[in-house]
Amino acid sequence: MDDPEDGYFGERIAAKYDEESAERFQPSVLEPTVDFLAELAAGGRALELAVGTGRVALPLSQRGVDVHGIDLSKAMVARLRAKPDGDAIGVTIGDYATTTVEGTFSVAYLVFNTISNLTTQEQQVACFRNVAEHLEPGGCFVIEVGVPELRRVPPGEHTRLFEVSPTQWAYDVYDFATQQMSSNFVQLVDGRGHFHSIPFRYVWPAELDLMAQLAGLRLRERWEDWTREPFTGDSRNHVSVWEKPAGTEADPVQRA
Ligand SMILES: C[S@@+](CC[C@H](N)C(=O)[O-])C[C@H]1O[C@@H](n2cnc3c(N)ncnc32)[C@H](O)[C@@H]1O
Repeated sequence: MDDPEDGYFGERIAAKYDEESAERFQPSVLEPTVDFLAELAAGGRALELAVGTGRVALPLSQRGVDVHGIDLSKAMVARLRAKPDGDAIGVTIGDYATTTVEGTFSVAYLVFNTISNLTTQEQQVACFRNVAEHLEPGGCFVIEVGVPELRRVPPGEHTRLFEVSPTQWAYDVYDFATQQMSSNFVQLVDGRGHFHSIPFRYVWPAELDLMAQLAGLRLRERWEDWTREPFTGDSRNHVSVWEKPAGTEADPVQRA
């Protein structure tokens, strides 16, 4: 039974999460991700916003990085805890936009499009401010997220079908005025149809840079992926790194 406090990642989703995200657990995906984050941690602590079942946190911790996670869903975190070395990751249950944890971090990261689970601009800005409070001077915030797929929505339409299979139809619905969208899934299970819908707020790279600026961070790097392929106008994803200026530099927010 799903606990409403777990949000959109309750028991039913948590039970199938690793299996359904199997592609994201492949070494070809995880190794460059962990290399990238371990390099930024540089011997310091890492904070994962939306740690989930520990897909990234566990291999990063096994690399010797001290990782702490935040997540809303007790069901997802129970899966993390049940894994070998799952107890090596400290976890705080709460909303990553506002939840605070003890200490400071060399790197904070939010992967797999999860910034878009915050469905208002205010919440996304709050997330940047919260991260900035947790970073050491010189520390970095890393986001991995897709570039909004508006070029793939048919002209004049607001819906894009992205999967058609014998057991699932899936489509995104966009509201271009508000940057709200939803991903919708119709699944056939034992001959019966099931529908579920997840709301998101899509956000542009430049808008994320502005949110970073509001939080006193500045863009350090932007790549298409974890292997540092160049980010271009045709990139469908980006891995962006914002840095908290070292203590001696003026705070851009105060200067403005
Ligand atoms: C797509 S999963 C990603 C999990 C993990 N980071 C990974 O890459 O496999 C999204 C996670 O974000 C969590 N989540 C969504 N919105 C959240 C919020 N506002 N605060 C904390 N966790 C949130 C969900 O509970 C879920 O565990």
